[in-house]
Amino acid sequence: MDRVSNLPDEVLCHILSFLTTKEAALTSILAKRWRNLVAFVPCLTIDDTVFLHPKEGKRDRQAIKQSFMNFVDRILALQIKFPLKRFSLNCFTVVDMDRLDGWIGNVLARGSVSDLDLQILIPSDKCVFYQLSPKCFECSTLVSLSIGSGIDVTLAAARVFLPMLKTLVLVWVKVCPDEFETLLHALPSLEELVLVRVIWKDRDVIVSSASVKTLTIYVGFWLFALSIDTPSLVHFEYSGLVASDYPVVNMGNLVDAQINFSEIHIKSLGEPDNDEDALRFSNVWKLFHGMRNVPHLSLLPDTLEGLSMCSESMPVFNNLKSLAIKSNTERGWQAMPALLRNCPHLETLVLQGLVHCVTDKCGDVSGCISREEKGLSLKLCPVKVMEIHGFQGTMKEMAMIKHFLDYFPCLKEMEVYAEENPTRPRNQRVLKMFELYNKLSSCNVQLFI
Ligand SMILES: *[C@@H]1O[C@H](CO)[C@@H](O)[C@H](O)[C@H]1NC(C)=O
Repeated sequence: MDRVSNLPDEVLCHILSFLTTKEAALTSILAKRWRNLVAFVPCLTIDDTVFLHPKEGKRDRQAIKQSFMNFVDRILALQIKFPLKRFSLNCFTVVDMDRLDGWIGNVLARGSVSDLDLQILIPSDKCVFYQLSPKCFECSTLVSLSIGSGIDVTLAAARVFLPMLKTLVLVWVKVCPDEFETLLHALPSLEELVLVRVIWKDRDVIVSSASVKTLTIYVGFWLFALSIDTPSLVHFEYSGLVASDYPVVNMGNLVDAQINFSEIHIKSLGEPDNDEDALRFSNVWKLFHGMRNVPHLSLLPDTLEGLSMCSESMPVFNNLKSLAIKSNTERGWQAMPALLRNCPHLETLVLQGLVHCVTDKCGDVSGCISREEKGLSLKLCPVKVMEIHGFQGTMKEMAMIKHFLDYFPCLKEMEVYAEENPTRPRNQRVLKMFELYNKLSSCNVQLFI
C-alpha cells in the first residue's frame, strides 16, 4: 500500500479509471487521499449489474436499486467540478428515467466528455424503450458516441451539434431512417459508423455520409431498400440479412470489404419452389456493383451461395487483387466460375476450407465433377499465390489441390495450412503426394502443419 500511496495523483487517478466506479469508490474507503481522488477520475463506468446481482431476493432488490441510484448521485455530485473524459452507463435494472436523464445531463454539462457509452435496458414486459435525451446530440466535445440495448433514438426535436464526433455506434436501438439521414448529414467529422441490429422504424434506409471511412453494418431485420452513399468509405463489413433492393451503392474508394450474409434466407435457395428468396437475391448484384473497384474482398459461405443467384449480372472486379473465400460443407461453389472469370487481375486467392457442398453447378473450379471443358475458368485466371487454410488431409482435397496446380496458369506459390490438431495431414501418403506435386509443377507448394 505504501508504495502505491507514494505515486503521484495523476497516476493513481489513471489506475482508478480502470476500475468500475464501485471498485474505485471502495478503494476510497482505504485512505482519505484516495477518497478525494475518486472525484478526479477521468473515466467513469457505472454498471448496475455490479451492484444488483440477479440472485438476490426480490424484497432486497428494491432497496439495493435505491441505494445504487443514491450512490451514483453521490459520485456524480462529488465529481461535478472536475473534467470527465469517458462515461459509460450500463443500466439493465434501473427504471427511473428521470434519474437516468439527470445523470447523462450532469455528465454532458461538464463540457469535457469525449466518449459516451450508454446501454440502458428498461426491464418491462411491454418492451418499453428508453427515450434518449436530445442533449446527447448537442455536445461540442464528444468524439465517440455509443448507444446500445433498448434505447429509442428519436431526434425529431433535437438540434444536432456534434462537430467533433468521429465514431457513432448504434446497437439494437430504434431509429427512424429519415431522422438518421438528417443526423449523418449533421456530422462533419464522422469516420466510423457501426450499425448492428438497428430496429428501423421504416423499411427504406439510406446511409449517406461524405466523411465515413469505416462502415460496419449488421442487418438484423428485413429491409425493403438499403442505400449506401459513402464516397470516402475505405473499410466495409456487411453481415446479416439481404435487403430486397440496393438502389444506391456508392463506395468508389473502398479498399477492403467483407460480406457475410446470414443463412436464414438462403437455406433453400435454388430449390424450385423458393421463388420468393430467389427474388430477394435478384438485386444483390447491385451491392457488388457498387463495390466493383475494391482491391481486397472476403466472402463467407452464405454470400457465395447467394451470389450464385445473380451470376449473370455479376460485375467485373477490375481492381481486385486478393479474394478470400470461406467454405463449409453446407454451401456450394456455384458462384465460383463466374466470380473467377470476373476477376481479371486477381493475384492472391485465399481459401478458408476446401470442403464445400458438391452441386452439379460447382462448375469447373473444384474439379469435383468431371466435365469436358475442365478447368476453363481457372485457365483464364492470373492468380499467382494461393493460400489454403483448414486443410484436413483428405484425398478429395488432394485432388482439388492437383486440379488448381494443373489449371491455374500463373500460379507460383501455394501455401497449405493444416487444420488445428491435424492427424491426417501428417499421414505419410499425404506428405509423399505433396513432394510429388512440388516436383511435377512449376509452383512452389508448401504444407504447414
Ligand atoms: C458471419 O455471420 C454469422 C451468422 O450471423 C456469424 O456466426 C459469423 O461469426 C460471421 N462471421 C464473420 C467472419 O463475421
